[in-house]
Amino acid sequence: MMENVRIYEVGPRDGLQNEKAIVPTQTKIALIDLLSQAGFSHIEATSFVPAKWVPQMADATEVLNGINRAHGVTYAALTPNIIGYEKALAAKADEVAIFGAASETFSQKNINCTIAESIERFIPIVERALADGVPVRGYVSCVVGCPYEGDIAPEAVAQIAAKLFELGCYEISLGDTIGAGTPEKIIAMLNAVKQHVPVDKLAGHYHDTNGNALDNVKASLNEGLRNFDSAIGGLGGCPYAPGAKGNVSTVKLAHMLEREHYHTGLNFDVLAKAEALLSTLGENHD
Ligand code: HMG
Ligand code: MG
Repeated sequence: MMENVRIYEVGPRDGLQNEKAIVPTQTKIALIDLLSQAGFSHIEATSFVPAKWVPQMADATEVLNGINRAHGVTYAALTPNIIGYEKALAAKADEVAIFGAASETFSQKNINCTIAESIERFIPIVERALADGVPVRGYVSCVVGCPYEGDIAPEAVAQIAAKLFELGCYEISLGDTIGAGTPEKIIAMLNAVKQHVPVDKLAGHYHDTNGNALDNVKASLNEGLRNFDSAIGGLGGCPYAPGAKGNVSTVKLAHMLEREHYHTGLNFDVLAKAEALLSTLGENHD
């Protein structure tokens, strides 16, 4: 029996948020509608953050209102605070994500507060979401390296991952924001996190800046992870992490997994159409 691996498509959010030219709302909707036919259970569609922080996500409400929701697909949105949560709820996001970091400097640059303050800010979001029946995913950024602080201690990652899990996040996505990971570093980080969060509640979110993402996924598979984030066309980066290139490409990840005899449930013909649509954005993303 082939084992299943769930691929969580984050391209419309983590990918597009870093595009310099504003992508038309209709193009974002068309991309999500195509991805909805590809077999994903989860698509991160957008984020509810101030336009002055991430101008590309200013149309979050229009995007969620404009898509054709496919049966069985969860459409998620990032919510940094309760204002974002209210907007996401009004736009009928099926799931929300809070996002913290294992690096103090990155936390300041990305969400304008310390790690401790971010936890205080997340508490009311999770309380509200759980009362509303909305699942919450928790991200930890800079799980091996930070663009400002360099190497990050595995224990720092474990602490924030544990906090987010205790708050009520159903899953913790471990972000190698700048692709600083190597299999050895990823394994050390996972071993620390696994002391606090069950491995089936962890996801690998690996940027491919240095071309190590697929090796990092393989190392994580050996550590028991079966959930990974990726972006169609290898789109992406983070506006507050200089040098952060794209997420690992969905097609490359799915091909690697299928070669390794894991089942992803994804339709490669549909993924190819989604990649073709991206080429209309005028850059080669893969
Ligand atoms: P702040 O400026 O400190 O917020 O930003 P504030 O509470 O002081 O509010 C300032 C103004 O924004 C106010 O309006 C608020 O009402 C408004 P004003 O009174 O000036 O007219 N406001 C909002 N408007 C719309 N939506 C909201 C919202 N909140 C406040 N949600 C804040 C603090 C957290 C909001 C900001 O720092 C922020 O949004 N940061 C997010 C940046 C971001 O999106 N980064 C990329 C995503 S993270 C990522 O990519 C990493 C990940 O992929 C994992 C990995 O790879 O590592 C997840
Ligand atoms: Mg990311």
